[in-house]
Amino acid sequence: MKLIVMVMTMMMISEGSMIDQTCKQTPDFKLCVSLLNSDPRGSSADISGLALILIDKIKVLATKTLTEINGLYKKRPELKQALDQCSRRYKTILNADVPEAIEAISKGVPKFGEDGVIDAGVEASVCEEGFQGKSPLTSLTKSMQNISSVTRAVVRMLL
Ligand SMILES: *[C@@H]1O[C@H](CO)[C@@H](O)[C@H](O)[C@H]1NC(C)=O
Repeated sequence: MKLIVMVMTMMMISEGSMIDQTCKQTPDFKLCVSLLNSDPRGSSADISGLALILIDKIKVLATKTLTEINGLYKKRPELKQALDQCSRRYKTILNADVPEAIEAISKGVPKFGEDGVIDAGVEASVCEEGFQGKSPLTSLTKSMQNISSVTRAVVRMLL
């Protein structure tokens, strides 16, 4: 009985350090750990599982940003053109980048997963630039850029 408890404790410690060790190799350790710890699958995932969790976070953030964009049409009609562009960009993240990355990693071809993850950050930047310095989405843009770069680093560990 005691032995079982000891082995289980050791397993939990090594699982915990899996997230830690993976996140140490990303540009934002704190963000990486907080994203992975917030998902119940994180504690038992391997690196490709951790990458899939992070891609899911990209999806959640893109969905949230798209909702925000849709709400801004009424509040800021003068921004319509930039909002249209952003709407297209975030739909690209949701309909192309995310599914492409999930499929690539699930099938064990992470190189193609990296492309989708990088593109999510690029799409967010292009959206932001459309407002020419007066973006109402800056903090969401930065979050996407940050998640994208953390996720990219994790996907690269699979290459
Ligand atoms: C994104 O990362 C930068 C650099 O680490 C940090 O200064 C900034 O607060 C982060 N922004 C968001 C919204 O997460």
